Amino acid sequence: MHNIAVIPGDGIGREVMEEALCLLEEICKTNSLLTIEWEIFSWSSEYYLQHGEMMPKNGLDTLKKYDAILFGAIGDPRVADEVSIWDLIMPIRKGFEQYINFRPIKQLAGINAPLQIDKDIDFVIIRENAEGEYSNMGGNLYQGTSQEMAVQNTVMTREGVKKASAFAFKYARSKNYKKVTSATKSNAILHTMKLWDREVASVSSNYEDIHFESVYIDALTAYFVQRPEEFGVVLASNLFGDILSDLGSSIVGGLGVSPSANINPEGNYPSMFEPVHGSAPDIAGQGIANPIAQVWSLALLLEHLGYEQPADAILQSIQHVIQEGIVTPDLGGTCTTKQVGKAIRDQVKSNL
Ligand code: NAI
Ligand code: MG
Repeated sequence: MHNIAVIPGDGIGREVMEEALCLLEEICKTNSLLTIEWEIFSWSSEYYLQHGEMMPKNGLDTLKKYDAILFGAIGDPRVADEVSIWDLIMPIRKGFEQYINFRPIKQLAGINAPLQIDKDIDFVIIRENAEGEYSNMGGNLYQGTSQEMAVQNTVMTREGVKKASAFAFKYARSKNYKKVTSATKSNAILHTMKLWDREVASVSSNYEDIHFESVYIDALTAYFVQRPEEFGVVLASNLFGDILSDLGSSIVGGLGVSPSANINPEGNYPSMFEPVHGSAPDIAGQGIANPIAQVWSLALLLEHLGYEQPADAILQSIQHVIQEGIVTPDLGGTCTTKQVGKAIRDQVKSNL
């Protein structure tokens, strides 16, 4: 029995979450081994406009009791983005030590992705999510004058790099990926990236069954486009991982089909599963958002809780509806969010 907290958020976040929850209900009905209960929290920009805060002061204490969090998306033109992001998503990621950001990059047959290659693209990006280039250490001098200067520090800690590497190698072994590729730039960034290289290499020596390579980030972006089928697990620092993730998503079909997970590997706190996309104010309310990224995020959550079979069933169903051409306009179709959601639900019963 598991309890999950659900935060649909704003805009299309709510529309796609509805489909994910209907699917979860269907799965729980069909598969008696899966007992999941969930509670919905209305924390969002709308909530902020009413209460002056994105979530209650004891929000993290409330969430802490759950086994995982399913998140939609936030963002509303009436509320500054830095408020919605820094007062809701960031406190959860940081407060719950979700120092791994995880993104599967998988080519689904039937998607007209920009890379027209007939090869099997199936890899994951594991991004260090807590420190590195996004440590927010630094400052300004002579502000507002012509001599203005700014310094922003990258912080790599042995412990942080080691933990992210260990997660990557363990994951590779558990999922039978044969290779871990580390993104680096230690030819130019001599201090932090050399520490990164050293710690990753040291962890790799405990995994002799897994091929390890270290590749310069600039070359790596080219390889993502030229031969994406060769990757297994790609491990990257915060900034490099951020960029690689978006590149990875776009080579296999874009935001509408890109799920992600923010993981606390120790299990001391709940991990959070969310689509990569935002609240898409440009299409919110039209009922045409692609629910696949959200539904796939639900699959990652189920897998994380140990329900591998239902997670696989969801992925197979997604694959099936895409191949049938039951897709929203972002994938070139004419279906609505609800039609795609229902098609996935109908299909999942036969895959469970
Ligand atoms: P966005 O991801 O919301 O939208 C970018 C483009 O992709 C838009 O044209 C949108 O229509 C399209 N798109 C996104 N998801 C889609 C889906 N499921 N189906 C079909 N089309 C889809 O990013 P944008 O426009 O930069 O930001 C909008 C708001 O979302 C902002 O307030 C931003 O801060 C917030 N945001 C929130 C995130 C989160 O909750 N984790 C992540 C990214 C942005
Ligand atoms: Mg990003």
